[in-house]
Amino acid sequence: MKNIVILISGRGSNMEAIVRAAIPGARIAAVIANRPDAAGLAFAAHHGIDTRVVDHKAYPSREAFDEALAAVIDGFAPDLVVLAGFMRVLTNGFVEHYAGRLLNIHPSLLPSFPGLHTHQRALEAGVRVAGTTVHFVTPTLDCGPIVIQAVVPVLPGDDEAALAARVLVQEHRIYPQAVRWFVEGRLSVEGHRVAVLDEAPGPAGWTVPPTGA
Ligand code: GAR
Repeated sequence: MKNIVILISGRGSNMEAIVRAAIPGARIAAVIANRPDAAGLAFAAHHGIDTRVVDHKAYPSREAFDEALAAVIDGFAPDLVVLAGFMRVLTNGFVEHYAGRLLNIHPSLLPSFPGLHTHQRALEAGVRVAGTTVHFVTPTLDCGPIVIQAVVPVLPGDDEAALAARVLVQEHRIYPQAVRWFVEGRLSVEGHRVAVLDEAPGPAGWTVPPTGA
């Protein structure tokens, strides 16, 4: 059984998708938030999952917060730490401590649009497709080896909310898939590329643009 700790900052819908996937061989050991008002904590508690809050505002520095957070995480002996809408930039020390067992989801087709305000920036750039990426976390923000991506069209009239909602549907599909692959021991990282062992032929995750596009 692999222990998984999920970190959230707010709504926690990706955490919810991973919990609901009930991945064989995976145990969600804890859901930890950096904000006491993170809505997702209620869902986790309701499902009998241990919850903790490590409030970043209670710490004088990023380093002090990350150290306190790592101490709580390590209390659950995690095989995998999953960032699911965890809106904190992490120190190198934290990232290196969890090297190879720290996943993140970002709402863009990385390496395009790392950082904040991704949907707004994608719309302003006039891209015709957008999407989402699950990747291993490395010290450079949103730059780690890519596990899976999903593509959605950008449609005429889209605003930030419409695009975010279309992307989120795909996030709920690909994040449980990435976690399942990890738990099955099927991910191997070579340099910047991730191989999925025994993957069926064809692309790992994408949606077909509308006819005529
Ligand atoms: C998701 O869209 C996730 O990709 C994004 O925050 C949202 C969290 O939603 N993460 C980032 O922007 C990280 N840079 P959720 O709380 O409902 O899972």
